[in-house]
Amino acid sequence: MEKQDLFAQKSKNWDMNSTRVRNAKEIADVILKNISMNKDMILADFGAGTGLLTYFLAPNVGKIVAIDNSRSMLDEFLAKQNEFACDTDVIYGDISECENDLKFDGVASSMTMHHVENTKDLLLKLFNMLKSDGFIAIADLDREDGSFHGDNTGVFHFGFDRDELEIIAREVGFKDIKFETANMIEKPNGTFSVFAMTARKK
Ligand SMILES: C[S@@+](CC[C@H](N)C(=O)[O-])C[C@H]1O[C@@H](n2cnc3c(N)ncnc32)[C@H](O)[C@@H]1O
Repeated sequence: MEKQDLFAQKSKNWDMNSTRVRNAKEIADVILKNISMNKDMILADFGAGTGLLTYFLAPNVGKIVAIDNSRSMLDEFLAKQNEFACDTDVIYGDISECENDLKFDGVASSMTMHHVENTKDLLLKLFNMLKSDGFIAIADLDREDGSFHGDNTGVFHFGFDRDELEIIAREVGFKDIKFETANMIEKPNGTFSVFAMTARKK
C-alpha cells in the first residue's frame, strides 16, 4: 500500500510562503559559493518538494532530478517544470529505496534530512549515488527545541548538531566536510538557524 502523503495539505500553497522561498535562495547562494558547478553536471535534489532549491540551482547545471516521496509536492514541481533553467526529471519514491545504479555529480537538499530517521544510512545512500569526486550539499536546521514545526508528524530530528553530523559524514567516507550558516529563520516563537553542509566523495 502507498504510504501516506504527509505534505498533501501543504503542497498547493508551499511556494506562497516567502520565508521558504528566501530560505531556499539563501541556501542555494551558500551552496554555489562553496561548490563550482557547470552545465555538464547532473544533480539530484533529494526531498525536492515543489522545487524551490532546484529553481535557484538550475541556471548552473545541465539537469536536476527531483527525488521525493510526496506525489502532491512532485505535482507542483511538474507544474512549473518550464520555469526551471535546466532539464529536470522526477523520481517518486523514498530516498532509501532509490536504485543504486543512479550516479550523480552532486546531491543537493534543503530542509529534508530531518524527515529521515537514520542519518547514517541516508548519508551512505547519498554517497553511493555519487560519481567519484561528486558532492553533497545539504541544508537543514541546526539543533532546535522541537518548536520549529507546528506539527512534528514525520519529523525524526529536531535539527542537527554540526559536530555529530560531521562525524557521521566522515564515517561514511565523505571528505572536505564544511559547514556554513545559510540562513536565520524568524518565527513568532524564536529564531532558527539553517546550516549548509558540503562534502565530497574522494
Ligand atoms: C520540508 S519539505 C522541503 C521541500 C524543499 N526541499 C524545500 O526546501 O522547499 C521536505 C520534502 O522532503 C520529502 N521527503 C521527506 N522524506 C523523504 C524521503 N524519505 N524520501 C524522499 N523524499 C522525502 C517530503 O515529501 C517533502 O517534499
